[in-house]
Amino acid sequence: MDSATLVRELGDFLRIPSVSTLPAHDADCRRAAEWVAGALRRLGCREVAFLASEVHPVVWGVGPDVPGAPTLLIYGHYDVQPPDPLAEWVTAPFEPTVRDGRLFARGAADDKGQVFCLLKAIEAAGRPPVNFRFLIEGEEEFGSRVLFDLLRREPRRTRADAVLIADMAYVAPKWPAVYTALRGLCYAEITVRTAKSDLHSGEYGGAAPNAHEELLRLLGRLKGPDGKINVPGLYAAVKRPSREDLAAWRKLPFREAVFLKERVRAKALTGLRRYSVLERLWALPTFEIHGIKGGFTGEGAKTVIPAEATAKVSLRLVPNQKLKTVERQLAAAVKRLAPMYVSTTVTFLHGADPAQVKVTHPAFRLLDRAFREVVGRGTVPVRAGGSIPVVPALGQSGAPVILTGIGLPDDRLHAPNEKLDLTQLEDGIRVFGRFYQLMGEMKTSRKGVS
Ligand code: BES
Ligand code: MN
Ligand code: MN
Repeated sequence: MDSATLVRELGDFLRIPSVSTLPAHDADCRRAAEWVAGALRRLGCREVAFLASEVHPVVWGVGPDVPGAPTLLIYGHYDVQPPDPLAEWVTAPFEPTVRDGRLFARGAADDKGQVFCLLKAIEAAGRPPVNFRFLIEGEEEFGSRVLFDLLRREPRRTRADAVLIADMAYVAPKWPAVYTALRGLCYAEITVRTAKSDLHSGEYGGAAPNAHEELLRLLGRLKGPDGKINVPGLYAAVKRPSREDLAAWRKLPFREAVFLKERVRAKALTGLRRYSVLERLWALPTFEIHGIKGGFTGEGAKTVIPAEATAKVSLRLVPNQKLKTVERQLAAAVKRLAPMYVSTTVTFLHGADPAQVKVTHPAFRLLDRAFREVVGRGTVPVRAGGSIPVVPALGQSGAPVILTGIGLPDDRLHAPNEKLDLTQLEDGIRVFGRFYQLMGEMKTSRKGVS
């Protein structure tokens, strides 16, 4: 299929601003779900349904029945992160544009472009003999609550010979990856209140507590300048990577200096200096501040002492940590670190346990072979710093969860000027098409799962 057709078809999907976290885009999320449903119908799905939610439905599809063939469950998401800061986009986030062989748009790589790639590959490979199932959700970027509850009620939906997820990137150009771990996430709002209402900073300044000042001190105590997180007990469960893992990571095409200069584009890297950057990204918990609100931030000047301030923060969790435990630990740390004259509340917005997958099931060899045949190199096992909340639940019926992707490390997920290289998309269609064909040839011991 020529590149212009791909861009046009994917462009229709990318033009829908399906930002799941902003209620103003609820109708757009629904339109994106409808786009997915239409694509599944065109693929000949015998069942296409919207499940679980009115606003951000989970799109469920069942491909044509192929008796005796293996079942492959494809997971992805049609929702995207907010596009701001808008001023930094070279072209508008929801007006997909090709420059230098790259397609720029919010969702180009995360995850609409990759969902598109997985679906196109079915068509391009001539509809291989595989029993396809699809779960394409619309709340991944907001914690996947709806899909979680659905899979708890209906675990049978995850019964398959393998689950395939393309929501990640190569580890470096020309180096396809398969992921053995994802970090978890604990997202919270910390609110500090210091008085009944805001106060004149002349009348009261010097004697009254200031909510922003207290919040900043609290945040400064939660993580020290050395990168150590001061949440008691947080590091206790953290499992150190094995010697073999560490040795393998040292052989990856990853250079800390290049990472700083080309990817982070800052003056220095931060964090726990005793650990390599890959360990900090893949095997250690984090504490990040996403934004702070409260007080006066409008045009001009206003002399006021804010009575309330809120920070949006999150911790990333690594293998062996548990979301529930970390939530308790964070709430306790905030209580302990705030002075007694300050009242604090911690509200948890969403979260996910970390995930670990063994990549030994025969299906992983098929993916490795498909990449080898199409792009000349097989999959290298790596970990991800990011999170996909439902991954542990998708593996609950015992199917291997294959985590991979066709993005590149510089795709700028969640940031301005997100892009997908068109050669990655075209290669990806061939890779997954080949993978489906190889799966179709696979002997299955199961008698179908419908
Ligand atoms: N596709 C990403 C996860 C990802 C990114 C994995 C990069 C590996 C490498 C996913 O869409 C994502 O952004 N997830 C959120 C989940 C959260 C909002 C619950 C994340 O990691 O912040
Ligand atoms: Mn994603
Ligand atoms: Mn994302």
